[in-house]
Amino acid sequence: MVEKINLKTIQDIEHRFNQDIANIQSIEDLEKIKSKYLGSKGELRKNFLLIKYLPPEERKKIGEKLNQVRLVFQKYINNKENQIKKEVIEKDKGIDVTIPGKKIKIGHIHPIFRTIFKIEEIFGKMGFEVAEGQELENEWYNFDSLNMPADHPARDIQDTFWIKQKRNRDHKKNYLMRTQTSAMQVRYMEKHSPPFRVIVPGRTFRYEATDASHEMQFYQCEGFMVDSNISVANFNAIMNLFFKHFFADSSIETRMRPGYFPFTEPSFEFDIKLKGEKKWLETVGAGMIHPNVFRSAGLNPQKIQGFAFGMGVDRLTMIKYKIDDIRLFYQNDIRFLKQF
Ligand code: PHE
Repeated sequence: MVEKINLKTIQDIEHRFNQDIANIQSIEDLEKIKSKYLGSKGELRKNFLLIKYLPPEERKKIGEKLNQVRLVFQKYINNKENQIKKEVIEKDKGIDVTIPGKKIKIGHIHPIFRTIFKIEEIFGKMGFEVAEGQELENEWYNFDSLNMPADHPARDIQDTFWIKQKRNRDHKKNYLMRTQTSAMQVRYMEKHSPPFRVIVPGRTFRYEATDASHEMQFYQCEGFMVDSNISVANFNAIMNLFFKHFFADSSIETRMRPGYFPFTEPSFEFDIKLKGEKKWLETVGAGMIHPNVFRSAGLNPQKIQGFAFGMGVDRLTMIKYKIDDIRLFYQNDIRFLKQF
């Protein structure tokens, strides 16, 4: 059955239109209402099409009414449109559109992280995986597992922030802020089987007085490579390649000196001399991994060997960018950070 149109239907449309138009806020709202009532599929058009089903005597009356309503709607919409446009202009008054916009401040990568990303990139190309340790460590991984039992004198070199607690016989329950990323060596070896090629960048802590070259927090990057026949020559080659790329200096000189760490045997210090410089700079502590470290991880030292190293990330960053005070890295002074 075809819907029948009468004056009541038209009144209802007018009523709805009045409500709708009272609620509009924007030109977009207005466009919607325009098409809802006046569009080719709008309410009025729909009803115009129904006129032909009316008895002839009603057609004229209804048709006239619909036309009248259409004109009224049109007028309302035009008025409203003008009103909204005027409001927008009013609101914008006093704004000088020719003033240049504000410059957006872009953040910077902290120089320490610039270095870490570069280290990861270079070692990544040499097949090293990146692992992450934890800053809150326990005594076992930070010391004992690395051939440094509680009475070992080498512990004194690394003044430690201990967590306040009753000392436990189980050293895995005595917590400290890791003094070295080496704490990750045995953690990693326990979870993976050799061969390994890993670097571990991360923050380390030492209970020390601060000065231009000492901070109580700093970053290290540990690295180790283990297989059945890794030698000191492999270490030397990898370090040379690394430093050439890191400092973008192909004539960089390097040297190894004997050193001492309880968890490597033999141990060495790796120094560099940049092009045009006279001074050797100490950058890396390293050595061949001590059999006891493999034993701590449940690995058989008869079957594998390898090197480990720890580089000072802050130190490398200071050398690269010629920064003379390590404390600048941790003061968050924008004037300093902005330069990177
Ligand atoms: N962990 C040592 C340090 O902090 C560096 C190191 C790492 C030495 C690995 C040898 C092997 O000084």
